[in-house]
Amino acid sequence: MSLNIDLDYIKSILKTLLSDHRYDHSLRVSHEACLLAQHYHVDMDKVSLAGLIHDAAKEIDVFNSHLAFTDDHIVIYKNYPAVGHAFALDVVIPSYFGSFPDDVIQAAMWHTSGKENMTDSEKIVFIADFIEPQRAYPQRLEVSKLAYESLEKAVFEIASFKLHHLLNDRKSIYSKLVDCYNFYNYIK
Ligand SMILES: [Fe+2]
Repeated sequence: MSLNIDLDYIKSILKTLLSDHRYDHSLRVSHEACLLAQHYHVDMDKVSLAGLIHDAAKEIDVFNSHLAFTDDHIVIYKNYPAVGHAFALDVVIPSYFGSFPDDVIQAAMWHTSGKENMTDSEKIVFIADFIEPQRAYPQRLEVSKLAYESLEKAVFEIASFKLHHLLNDRKSIYSKLVDCYNFYNYIK
């Protein structure tokens, strides 16, 4: 691979951070991300690595952690529980895995909320997390097919789906998800 990163080592660390089901989910997201990257001629090594580590912070208790989380991390966890783990990656990755290229961390960090004007790598990880085969959403297959026609259309459908569910469950909505929805509604 073009990245000078030992994937077996990364997987061995990831296994210590995640339950088996989430570790397996991470492998599937990485695979889906790799396929999309191949289709769109995006760096497969970087995107599959971002897919692999996208949930690395998901089972860490930030409120009782020795890691150097800031007040900003804590505020996001408290106000937007669904997205906190994504933004904890800037601390978790260097603490457990070493130095990753910034675009890999960014692609992983935006996997939950999305945002406006994402890079192709960011779009791909956002989509791969939604379309991996074990996801039970009825829209999964349709969005998966759409993703190979247009990353932007797939991102919009996923943002729309997420907003619906958050509203339906009366949950807080991180503003970047709204930005994502509006941006891709306009350009899709
Ligand atoms: Fe995930």
